Amino acid sequence: MAGPIEVGQSAGRDPAVWGAMATWDFKARPGAARTDWSAATLRWSGLALAAASWFSAAFFGVFILVFYLGAAPAGRLAVWNSNLPRLYEPGHPLALWSIGAHFATGAALLLLGPVQLIGAVRRRWPGVHRWVGRFYVSAAGIAGLGGLGFILAEGTVGGPPMSVGFGLYGALMVIAAAWTWRLARAGRFEAHRAWAIRLYALAVASWLYRMEYGFWLPLTHHAGHTESFTGPFDVVMAFFFYVPNLLVAELFIRAAPSKLGPAVRVTVAAGLNLATAVVLLGTYYFARYYWGPGILGG
Ligand code: HEM
Repeated sequence: MAGPIEVGQSAGRDPAVWGAMATWDFKARPGAARTDWSAATLRWSGLALAAASWFSAAFFGVFILVFYLGAAPAGRLAVWNSNLPRLYEPGHPLALWSIGAHFATGAALLLLGPVQLIGAVRRRWPGVHRWVGRFYVSAAGIAGLGGLGFILAEGTVGGPPMSVGFGLYGALMVIAAAWTWRLARAGRFEAHRAWAIRLYALAVASWLYRMEYGFWLPLTHHAGHTESFTGPFDVVMAFFFYVPNLLVAELFIRAAPSKLGPAVRVTVAAGLNLATAVVLLGTYYFARYYWGPGILGG
């Protein structure tokens, strides 16, 4: 059993030590109060949010596979344009292959979810972690490059501001994937873990972007939004939709739940529970009015 690991300490290549670097793993931290009810509340609240987000994002992943990729064998690629104009333009092979690769790998990232971040998986099956990890970083690189290829070929529905915002997003995703892989190869597992969390936050940002629109549009009667995605809200979103995720990721990377007092733990747990309820509510509406019909009709 590995001992506690401090920030900056190299974990070496020992899979058992690597595995012990589980996020929110109270057992692996000094002074952990395993029986403390506030610690248990926080842990279960975090797990509930992770599970709800995974379920919701995976639903979106299945929708992408069935609706977008499912249209390819039947030659019905024109249905892509029912969601966004010009996703499919006959005679534009760079755009077609870029967005097609981006759909396949993006869906795979959503379906895989946070499996790589689960400490128990890393501890028990380090080989699985390594192979899924290689697949995950490759898929993230292709999803980012595919999105960038599509922007180069076609631009975006929102024009230059959206193209620049999404271009930055694609570049960040490719960089995060490359660093996650490189640091694992170099045996720098503390830094590898930090970049893997950032990469995961970026990957789920694609799902959160849709969720954020799903809440904003009905609640504000479409304030700041136009059909061509050129309103003030659209422009802000094009640049900042992944910033909240990255901030949460940074908190997560630095988090030491065992050092928090019971009152703080319970407050954080309440915030996590509220976020879980919001995710489940959004998922219900997306499943009922968008993903569900897309999957059943796809
Ligand atoms: C897990 C990662 C990702 C998933 C699951 C994903 C999914 C999708 C989906 C389903 C669409 C079609 C529109 C829709 O139904 O909403 C789309 C479009 C698009 N995505 Fe992604 N995406 C991901 C990452 C990225 C990244 C990193 C970039 C950055 C370059 C990007 C750029 C684009 C662009 C430019 C479009 C077309 C927008 C337009 O036509 O204006 N995506 N994506």
